[in-house]
Amino acid sequence: MKSSEIRSRFIDFYRQRQHAVIPSAPLVPQNDPSTLFTSSGMQPLIPYLLGEKHPQGRRLVSSQKSFRTQDIDEVGDNRHTTFFEMLGNWSLGDYFKKEQLPWIFEFLTRILGLPPERLYVSVFAGEGAVPKDDDSINIWKEIFRGVGIDAREGERIVAYPAAKNWWSRSGVPAGMPPGEPGGPDSEVFYDFGADLRLHERSVYKRQACHPNCDCGRFLEIANSVFMEYQKQADGTIRELPQKNVDFGGGLERLTAAENRMPDIFRTDMFLPVIEVLEKLSKREYGRKDEETRAMRVIADHIRGSVIMMADGVLPSNKQQGYVLRRLVRRSLLYGRTLGLTTDWKYVGLLVEPVAGFYSRAYPEVLRDAGRITLVLVEEAARFGKTLEKGLREIEKLPLITGETAFRLYETYGFPWEMTEEIARRKNQRPDREAFEQEFKKHQELSRTAAAGMFKGGLADHSRQVTKLHTATHLVHQALRQVLGDHVAQKGSNITADRLRFDFSHTGKISDSQLRLVESVVNEQIGRALPVAFRIMTYREAMEAGALAFFGERYPEKVKVYSIGSFSKEICGGPHAENTADLGKFTITREESAGGGIRRIYAALSRK
Ligand code: SER
Repeated sequence: MKSSEIRSRFIDFYRQRQHAVIPSAPLVPQNDPSTLFTSSGMQPLIPYLLGEKHPQGRRLVSSQKSFRTQDIDEVGDNRHTTFFEMLGNWSLGDYFKKEQLPWIFEFLTRILGLPPERLYVSVFAGEGAVPKDDDSINIWKEIFRGVGIDAREGERIVAYPAAKNWWSRSGVPAGMPPGEPGGPDSEVFYDFGADLRLHERSVYKRQACHPNCDCGRFLEIANSVFMEYQKQADGTIRELPQKNVDFGGGLERLTAAENRMPDIFRTDMFLPVIEVLEKLSKREYGRKDEETRAMRVIADHIRGSVIMMADGVLPSNKQQGYVLRRLVRRSLLYGRTLGLTTDWKYVGLLVEPVAGFYSRAYPEVLRDAGRITLVLVEEAARFGKTLEKGLREIEKLPLITGETAFRLYETYGFPWEMTEEIARRKNQRPDREAFEQEFKKHQELSRTAAAGMFKGGLADHSRQVTKLHTATHLVHQALRQVLGDHVAQKGSNITADRLRFDFSHTGKISDSQLRLVESVVNEQIGRALPVAFRIMTYREAMEAGALAFFGERYPEKVKVYSIGSFSKEICGGPHAENTADLGKFTITREESAGGGIRRIYAALSRK
């Protein structure tokens, strides 16, 4: 089955079970500075998992573009990617375990035709204040009994602690910032079979293989999270007022399992890119481990780069732009393993197979393919120069140690394999363990930094963030009144300290215009306007004159927030209840944010 067929069968399956279809949110989250990328289907739904009313109801289904930076160094094996498509279904306080688990089993076995005997499941073993998930164990036993399989605990059903079977955006309960939702989960694994000898070849071969082992024999294809807990400010975990289901299954992996193909890079989602790489390099995928790995990294990274760029990311040294830059650089470095060393333009030739593949699911990628190719090739050419500098530095080094290898990784993005190969030409053997140790230290540091980022954006300051979000609507409308109706939102980013708003406008905005915008906003705050939403169809919202975020695809039914009769905008919320709660509004900075786009920063005095 092709991946597009699997995607539409999943959506149809849940649609038949009264789920409303919601479109994929952009890869760069709007109004959520707590994270760089949308990394799962649940992310745009957080307010609704916490209790906000969703305009489409309590049962939702989607296919969400997702990107995980933390997986960047794992890419190269048979199943890890940075970008992936996540098929998801949600119950927002509606059905729970006894519907979700039989449904997902039915989807996998009846709709996709996976043999039940190839499926293994995991459940939460209990930890801290949260008990073992006996309900799921009993439900799974019943499900397997229905297909004639005696599913025993410890064999087909395996219980794991929080490290494996608890899901939140920031991992185990101890790592969750206050306000973050999470819960125990139950995963389904597809067994490709011992005959593949994956386990024997893996670095884990000294341990016995089990469903959640990392050797690659078992592939996790489905994850039902029972999102019923929230981290509290005092560090405890408490039940949410509503019990939610948050299901996610990677389309790449489901396609691999359905095709009985343990290597996701051999599925239709990657093959067109791999084929171009084979042609360009005159090497054969699957022949030599090192070359196969390089082709996987390039195929993954260029696919991620293209989708990211279609969603507006440009290479830079900051945030999303920096991740994009790393992807392109890593691709070029791995290209050297394939003998692609001199003409950097080859990365441009990989855009078309990606854009072509997504022409129906994400038509914006194809529309933008020309621009994306230009930016990609320019970025590649620029890196070519840095790379030459790095290589010259290596040539000059008398001794290449594990630590040096790590420094080269950090400064130039040189992967271990590449430094080792250069070192080998000088008859040197850098110590892999020392490299790994430095690498681990670095990973821990970035994990701590990522946790800090969550903290800054959510939780503690969420009341202030909510107020600034309401102020964003006010300033949007005020800018239209002062500068004209051509003003349309191009981006927004809110932290507890300030809002940042990008909009279409050419030329600098004068001080007197900025003061006028401020006074219009402060006037609305002074009028103590109520903030309320109504649910309507997208068409009704447009007819009612609601502002929409240009470029975003909306579901059929939307939430329209109005602030008195001053502003009306399509938005998911949450918002302050009344503008009187907001405090004094001040614009702190105005600048250009690229061709035809201006950016303002503004703050609210604390109340
Ligand atoms: N949020 C869960 C995951 O990303 C399930 O959707 O795996």
